[in-house]
Amino acid sequence: MKVIIAKDYEDMSTKAFELVKRVVTENPEAVLGLATGSTPLGLYAKMAEDHRENGTSYRRVRTVNLDEYEGLDITSDQSYVYFMRKNLFDHLDIDLENTNIENGRAENAEAECARYNALLEVMRQDIQILGIGSNGHIAFNEPGTPFEAETHVVELTESTIKDNSRLFARVEDVPRRAYTMGPKNIMNARKILILANGANKAKAVCGLVKGKVTEALPASVLQRHPDCTLVCDEAAASLL
Ligand code: PGA
Repeated sequence: MKVIIAKDYEDMSTKAFELVKRVVTENPEAVLGLATGSTPLGLYAKMAEDHRENGTSYRRVRTVNLDEYEGLDITSDQSYVYFMRKNLFDHLDIDLENTNIENGRAENAEAECARYNALLEVMRQDIQILGIGSNGHIAFNEPGTPFEAETHVVELTESTIKDNSRLFARVEDVPRRAYTMGPKNIMNARKILILANGANKAKAVCGLVKGKVTEALPASVLQRHPDCTLVCDEAAASLL
């Protein structure tokens, strides 16, 4: 794994942006694997700024998102489909038809997982952007998830519900279940870019880079990926 330590959040976002821009410039039809959460917001702002100022086009770019809460869709401003539009897609020339995410309101969860897995088979990510949870999760793959798992519905852990509750009015409002790509779908990406900032991520980042590869720390599977780059700030790198 390549490790790039950035000075701060701004510097982390700039370095991440440079990697993503290279992928889009080399292949205007690239498949971008996208993540939600607060970590990639700086990267998304830089993509929007670059599109506005330099005209970098996303017209033919295609996207697949990692995860979505069960029970939420675009009509909820807490859904990830809403998040992606507000924080990225609305600021690019991307065709929304080319953007993909699990349908949180699907009637048949099993069929929805199968649909998404089939889609990922034909839309292999040229780059997959990831954050990391304080417990080492990637997407909503919580500790204990088999590395071989594909898209599935998960029960969120108390730690993740607590981490994400800051984005909801009340902790009771955080959905208890979510759809997520599995580690196998993530590992299938041609290139992986994982971002981390802040001291609360330091322990997970240490496990990601230096720990044993174990399903107890889902992010550790990335040690087995041939082209994975971690960009983190000094606080998140403090235990390395
Ligand atoms: P965060 O979430 O970017 O909001 O810290 C990361 C994650 O849980 O994957």
